[in-house]
Amino acid sequence: MLKKTSYGEVTEFKAARTILGRPLYLTHFFFLKGLLIDTGPPCVSQEVINTLKEYEIKKVVITHQHEDHTGNCSLIQKELGVPIYANPGTISFLADPPKNIQIYRKIMWGNAPRAEAGPLGNYITAGDYSLDVIHTGGHSKDHVCFFEPQNRWLFSGDIYLGEKLTSFMDGEDIVEHLTGLQKLISLEPKILFCGLKGRLEDGKQRLVNKYNSWWNLCCRVKELLDAGKSRSEIMAEVFEGETLFYYFSQSNWGRRHMLDSILDNLDYFEKGYK
Ligand SMILES: [Fe+2]
Repeated sequence: MLKKTSYGEVTEFKAARTILGRPLYLTHFFFLKGLLIDTGPPCVSQEVINTLKEYEIKKVVITHQHEDHTGNCSLIQKELGVPIYANPGTISFLADPPKNIQIYRKIMWGNAPRAEAGPLGNYITAGDYSLDVIHTGGHSKDHVCFFEPQNRWLFSGDIYLGEKLTSFMDGEDIVEHLTGLQKLISLEPKILFCGLKGRLEDGKQRLVNKYNSWWNLCCRVKELLDAGKSRSEIMAEVFEGETLFYYFSQSNWGRRHMLDSILDNLDYFEKGYK
């Protein structure tokens, strides 16, 4: 499935593999005046490339290495011959993408083929727009966002996703998440262009709500730990147990990864950074 919607000069593409007409996992990517921001999952590559040929794409930037964002870099490079720019971690991923990804990733997105990308600078142009490159980490070590300061648009990749999520992929870091959110909140974005949910208004408030929700959750974990509760008791009380998706994802994506990241960074919450 690939659907497109125009919001003035920004075009939003919504892509997903479907089963019985229902999308498995939505990914949004965007076009602004010659600039493509992310590329969609490889499982819909033919629809993506056929659609993108209608646009005058001059360059591509990538928010992070996950297959639903990098998956069509190779095909776009071959078919459209345009340069791709990314964080060094994303460049390394694209140069040698892993073959043995978890089954859920193959089903939802597919494998990302190898592609060549060059390094991002501090900003990227799109026609007469200039977008600041904001490194956040958090969702993945290489995660960046793109901020257009005149309209206060934030192309947020997978940093937002929702306000009360309690599952992490293995390797996500709660402190990177919180410091990244603080950085983005300070920009006071009006509109988020989110990898999962598409265009969203009240950008700053949404990020503040997410920050507060996660900060309160971390403080609750620490309170219970100080009260002598065990890890499994905290898992049950704060996270209401593990999700089924954790097992389907072969232990790659679940609530225990968020809890473990909080437990690994207790000193950060003791210092009262909020
Ligand atoms: Fe992601």
